[in-house]
Amino acid sequence: MFKDTRGLEMTASSQEAVDAFDATVAEFLAAGRDAAVLLKHVNETDPDMIMGQCVRGYFMRLPQQAHLIQGSDDAYAKAVALLDGANPREKMHVSALEAWCKGDIRRTNAIWEQILVEYPHDILALRIAHTMHFFLGDLDLMRDSMARVMPRWSEDIPGYGFVLGCRAFSLEESHDFKQAEPMGRRAVEINESDVWAGHCVAHVLEGMGRRQDGIEWIDSHEEAWKKRGIFARHMWWHRALHYLELERFDDVLAAFDREYWPEPTEDNIDLTNASSMLMRLAMLGIDVGDRWESVAKICEGRTKHRLRPFNDLHFIMALAMTGRMEAAREIVASMRAYVAENDGKGITLVDVYRNAGIPVGDSIIAYAEKDYSKVVEIMSGARYRMVPLGGSWAQRDVWVRMLIDAAIQDGQHAYARALLAERTTDCPTSGPSWNMYANVLDSCGESGEAKAARARATELLAA
Ligand SMILES: [Fe+2]
Repeated sequence: MFKDTRGLEMTASSQEAVDAFDATVAEFLAAGRDAAVLLKHVNETDPDMIMGQCVRGYFMRLPQQAHLIQGSDDAYAKAVALLDGANPREKMHVSALEAWCKGDIRRTNAIWEQILVEYPHDILALRIAHTMHFFLGDLDLMRDSMARVMPRWSEDIPGYGFVLGCRAFSLEESHDFKQAEPMGRRAVEINESDVWAGHCVAHVLEGMGRRQDGIEWIDSHEEAWKKRGIFARHMWWHRALHYLELERFDDVLAAFDREYWPEPTEDNIDLTNASSMLMRLAMLGIDVGDRWESVAKICEGRTKHRLRPFNDLHFIMALAMTGRMEAAREIVASMRAYVAENDGKGITLVDVYRNAGIPVGDSIIAYAEKDYSKVVEIMSGARYRMVPLGGSWAQRDVWVRMLIDAAIQDGQHAYARALLAERTTDCPTSGPSWNMYANVLDSCGESGEAKAARARATELLAA
């Protein structure tokens, strides 16, 4: 019996294979470019290593790409054939992969959590459960999952910094910025390549509206994070969000061209970054030129397979905002078909599509068709059912912005005033929000309040 770097027993043909497995997991933790290459090395070194097959199955489901799903199913089949001789922890990983292949993601998460009860140093189960709680918007589960393991970890255990980064992010998404920020910063101090911990701090600074701090934070780690994989581009997107809130629109567009959409890609993180930022700009009336086109062209190839509602909604934005209404409607129709076909089969995403994917998808199409009253009608309720879409609060905010803009465009001034009062109360440091609030107050005939709101915006934007 061999052991991994944290002392967990591994069924393998050699220590070399286990070391290769550890290297793969380490690269995954650091959002590195080479996780797939390292995994290939595991599978070549020991094709019958059951954890090698489980990781292969996991890695092929994580990117939510239709062409990889068969590879994940194949890895599961291979893992099942290797169950004889596997230890109890490894068998649980196979069960987790089985549930994932069947679409029962909540069961998958529950099995990883069960693993962590007995084996809190199983950093693969820990990290991937963290990711998938986030994927489902199960924010309490994500927070409590990390809280349960933290006392069992210490700085001398390999990977501690990454665990701290996950704990920090779980607190951030629960809006506990005060605890999250120093933890995230500490994790990056331990290991600058920990882009996920860096991302946590970026979210804290976004959530608190600390624009200059947010830009500085990313600037100061840019060299280290450039060496990371695709996830680094999400960091440049975060920096551009700060530019947006400072009304530095030229910088937002320059960063689009050079940093977070430098070329068309099939990666879902890239697609969501690009679509989300263009939508925000469009709603602010900023001319984005032909930038939607290259995004929409990729999204045209995503109308058939329903793998993640959150991504689908970003595809719909790109399609609808470029007038590709047929393709946009095809995605929503396929969501409805997915719900009808899979209802009652224990497939986790059915309810997510039903409660959030379809209504938000319909609203995006209505927005693109300038049917603003329909957007308001749907989104005023649906905004509170969006958390299970997954993604962060900052990402889902694009659809709250859509509701506000639709209320303004539809001439529902009093409702828009209420929504912007909410927004400026919750995030009092957003200059553009105060400006929008000022305009709406003017529309409501409240010129005194409008003047005060505009002064606040000017002060924030000059800071
Ligand atoms: Fe983010």
